[in-house]
Amino acid sequence: MSADRYNTIIEKIPESLLDENNMQRLIDSSVIRRGAKLLQKGELVAFPTETVYGLGADASSAEAVEKIFEAKGRPQDNPLIVHIGERSQLQEIVDGQLPPGAKKLMDHFWPGPLTLIMSKGDVISDKTTAGLKTVAVRMPSHPAALALIRASGLPVSAPSANISGRPSPTRAEHVYKDLQGRIPYIIDGGHCPVGVESTVLDLRKTRPIVLRPGGIPREKISDVLNKEVKIKNKEEKTGEETPLSPGMKYRHYAPEAPIKLFSELSPDNLQIFQQFLIKEEHKRIALILSREGLQILRDRLDKKKNINKKMNIEYGVFVDKKIFFCAIGSRKDSSTVARRLFHLLRYFDDNFRPELIIIEELPTSGLGEAVMNRLHKAAEDYIYLKK
Ligand code: TXA
Ligand code: MG
Repeated sequence: MSADRYNTIIEKIPESLLDENNMQRLIDSSVIRRGAKLLQKGELVAFPTETVYGLGADASSAEAVEKIFEAKGRPQDNPLIVHIGERSQLQEIVDGQLPPGAKKLMDHFWPGPLTLIMSKGDVISDKTTAGLKTVAVRMPSHPAALALIRASGLPVSAPSANISGRPSPTRAEHVYKDLQGRIPYIIDGGHCPVGVESTVLDLRKTRPIVLRPGGIPREKISDVLNKEVKIKNKEEKTGEETPLSPGMKYRHYAPEAPIKLFSELSPDNLQIFQQFLIKEEHKRIALILSREGLQILRDRLDKKKNINKKMNIEYGVFVDKKIFFCAIGSRKDSSTVARRLFHLLRYFDDNFRPELIIIEELPTSGLGEAVMNRLHKAAEDYIYLKK
């Protein structure tokens, strides 16, 4: 679709309204009212959630939902998550009983970044579910998202508000960069606090299975259900089996520069890593490491005195100005890593124009499982360094 169909308007929600957490004042605000009206008219509205920005449309209207696929360039067989603002909305969008364990999980994690697969009720357009008999549902916790959905009175279909295949947007300016001219309205609610998308969970079989790891760690779901929760294994890129979560078969989350993923750096394997860097040194390289990994590299380089001592500890440019490096966060702090991930991928692309992005693998505990899932899909190569 052409990128000049709309004169995209971006409006900020006053911070006082978000801080205060006074839902009614938010619902009555001009920004939310404008967004809700557009949704009711069958138009698209980008809005903040606690995970990433969503691109919303009336989930019951085939024509409205069709616009999402067009604006994003999204493959037609990839179904959308339906967002609700009140539990009572489940009655019309879900057919029959809730799956076992669903209520318990909703009590614990809703509103929040957990999406549950249920039987689809008639109100939801087949376009939303890409023809599936199931519907993915979540209640976001971001006050602006809740206010928008409540003000519209609709179930709202919303994928991440990026061009398909690009890193998901965690700031309004990311949405603007991708979808400017393709959508009428963006609600700016600041930075998304979680930074990776919701966990998609299927409870319909005896064994609960995570179709996409996300903002609620698998361990926590397991604790609440008091059962083992498995993750759908790496079917992506192989194309061998029919994916349970259809969105997982496409290359995703990728910035413009190719990504190579390296296993964890240690003093013992650093030399192999440095040899790789030397081989690629004609390229502009962005290096995204854990704080610990960067420290290991800096200790070695400091000894050779080819690093500028005045440089910021966490980010900077190596002497020849061709390797831009930064620490994404500590190996022990997966929440910070998740929050920064998509922004950093976009930031490097836009400001440094690297020819190669090198990222260090991070531990998979907590939100690390979601982070590594996104990185494996975005990367073209995984390079194992001996311990
Ligand atoms: O945090 C999030 O979930 C964000 C925000 C905007 O809420 N949304 C999001 O939507 O990430 P999207 O479209 O980028 O990802 C939806 C995922 C895809 O992997 C899709 O295949 C899966 O959910 N999905 C949707 N409906 C499904 C269904 N009926 N059965 C299985 N998987 C489904
Ligand atoms: Mg997405």
